[in-house]
Amino acid sequence: MRRSVILGCGSYLPKTILTNDELAKRVDTTDEWISKRTGIKSRHIAAADEKTSDLALAASREALAEAGLDATDIDVIVVATTTPDNTFPATAAKVQALLGMTKGFAFDVQAVCSGFVYALAIADNFIRLGQANKALVIGAETFSRLLDWNDRGTCVLFGDGAGAVVLGAIEGKGDNTDRGILSTHLHSDGRHYDLLAADGGPGSTGTTGHVRMEGQEVFRHAVQNLADVVDEALAANNLKPEQIDWLVPHQANQRIIEGTAKKLHMSPDRVVVTIADHANTSAASIPLALAAASKDGRLKQGQLVLLDAMGGGFTWGAAMVRW
Ligand code: ACO
Repeated sequence: MRRSVILGCGSYLPKTILTNDELAKRVDTTDEWISKRTGIKSRHIAAADEKTSDLALAASREALAEAGLDATDIDVIVVATTTPDNTFPATAAKVQALLGMTKGFAFDVQAVCSGFVYALAIADNFIRLGQANKALVIGAETFSRLLDWNDRGTCVLFGDGAGAVVLGAIEGKGDNTDRGILSTHLHSDGRHYDLLAADGGPGSTGTTGHVRMEGQEVFRHAVQNLADVVDEALAANNLKPEQIDWLVPHQANQRIIEGTAKKLHMSPDRVVVTIADHANTSAASIPLALAAASKDGRLKQGQLVLLDAMGGGFTWGAAMVRW
């Protein structure tokens, strides 16, 4: 059975760091409130001349280098983003050009904070079907540009950054001992469209809009949906929670992450958490966390890694990966 294996990870965080204390000078909030409710201490903010494609490019170059590949080896680029450089074309096409890649195809995926899991699932399917041999999957966001900096309920939660992985094809036996992506699980429920949304868009207001969120409702759905999708991923692979080596969740809120880890009976030292320094970077948060844990040697070949995410739409999903 053909599987997709992660050959390399990369990440990029803009230089400027905005701490909770600095933010508290701009809006009516405190470090204590933000830390206690979310686990966030600081976030990175893209420079005025940095676009989502620039962040994506830097992360991609690092992922390609770790994989020992050139951009010309890649057949497909999938960029998960909610903050594309332009309304169209896809930011992935810009990244393709910036990498100097003239073959293959590139497109964006919009599933907000679940975007990376969606993009990974799509790229995995291209590889398993034999329509691609190598894929570059990127989560990249300049989410700070979607924020209303007067809305303390949302502007304290998000940050900018990009992460990327390179996928290649390997042959497996078709069971849970294989290396690579063992399964992906995607869901959405558009009935909750308005609970976490931008209040504008090219087809409605003609403006980009700003992030609006019913925080408590999002929290409630996130805890339930993530618990359900994690169970689904375990059952699909005939695995028990104790067999999972690492949980690498979307980084929206420390309390949501702890809720999922508790459900899996996973101790905090088996969960990759970057939220304190990165805040919520939407589609970039999982590949940023993967790159961090890969670089510092936490993720080891053969280990089982469970990814999960939930975002606007609502969208949610999980991926079971043997590193
Ligand atoms: N600083 C100080 N006070 C604040 C702030 C702030 N930054 N923001 C809100 N408050 C106040 C509110 O005005 C409210 O005051 P009131 O009681 O006088 O009315 C009080 O704090 C409590 O507000 P709540 O919204 O009830 O606070 P809650 O405990 O729900 O925490 C939070 C808010 C952190 C946003 C939480 O609901 C949450 O994490 N929700 C999930 C959000 C999330 O994860 N979103 C992203 C997931 S999907 C994605 O990634 C796109």
